[in-house]
Amino acid sequence: MNAQFPTARPRRLRRNPAMRRFVRETTLEPRQLVLPLFYKEGLRAPAPVASMPGVLQCDLPTLRELARQAVAAHVGGVMLFAVPEVRDAHGSAALDPDGALSVAVREVRDAVGDEVLVMADVCLDEFTDHGHCGVLTATGEVDNDATLVRYAEMSVVLAEAGIDVAAPSGMMDGQVGVIREALDAAGHSEVAILAYAAKYSSAFYGPFRDAVDSDLCGDRRTYQQDPCGARREALREARLDIDEGADFVMVKPALPYLDVLSAVSSQSEVPVLAYQVSGEYSMVEAAAQAGWLDRRAAVLETLTAIRRAGADGILTYWALDAARWLES
Ligand code: PBG
Repeated sequence: MNAQFPTARPRRLRRNPAMRRFVRETTLEPRQLVLPLFYKEGLRAPAPVASMPGVLQCDLPTLRELARQAVAAHVGGVMLFAVPEVRDAHGSAALDPDGALSVAVREVRDAVGDEVLVMADVCLDEFTDHGHCGVLTATGEVDNDATLVRYAEMSVVLAEAGIDVAAPSGMMDGQVGVIREALDAAGHSEVAILAYAAKYSSAFYGPFRDAVDSDLCGDRRTYQQDPCGARREALREARLDIDEGADFVMVKPALPYLDVLSAVSSQSEVPVLAYQVSGEYSMVEAAAQAGWLDRRAAVLETLTAIRRAGADGILTYWALDAARWLES
């Protein structure tokens, strides 16, 4: 072969927009996006989350309005989190049928009907005064099995309030199994479970703790996975969740864990989601505000990368913006 005239010319498939469009294999559609929303009990007006520009702690009218916008933007679903007025050691407000999260679920369900999926976080961290995802033993450790009893009850309370999907995010062993059993026993076999299967103990959750006013004592390293941990640990977590009845499994965070996402996605028998977390959002927002990144291009590139790695759906704080860009 003459070195000056290559016979293989991959650039032919990049020649013009028509060719590039034709050979594209990764798609990104509004229906694949899920918008996380925060409802804060007792607010009279929405409050901006300082570390997440563009994200709000909502009062009820704002929650309703954003949920309606999710419908209009054709996103796949909303994921609800709530910040209660009162916290205690046991996260009691999480089990209250009139507690903040149930109120949010009912409000959103009323606003959207069946037009988007209504999902809710099943976890105690927003409701405990120590900020852990479960209740503690006398010596201050997170008590796995005592926590499971609460998750089971909480998921039934949320099912009665009207969720489509329960999303246990606390990384307790056996959480999917007990929630499935409790939902079925209460006559809610229709409610699906989105399992946070591989959730890492990540620095990228920093801004979220602002969004839910959390003052976590210590860290979550005895239940969330070690970033240096083995990929097989993630595969095992996903398999256990599927065996326990998960309808979806999730990897979290997304961008720093694309290898894990790809591995889980190649083995999973159920749809795989990824959570593009608060820190991933705030990094790009900060760089865009400084004029260092093209916001729209960077956001769409991150979402495309997450899809390419194998996510069927993505939880992202950019769901509304991205959906609008994709449809414009
Ligand atoms: C725990 C929970 C967290 C997030 C979602 N669910 C925080 C944590 O595990 O510390 C983080 C989401 C984000 O950073 O966007 N219930």
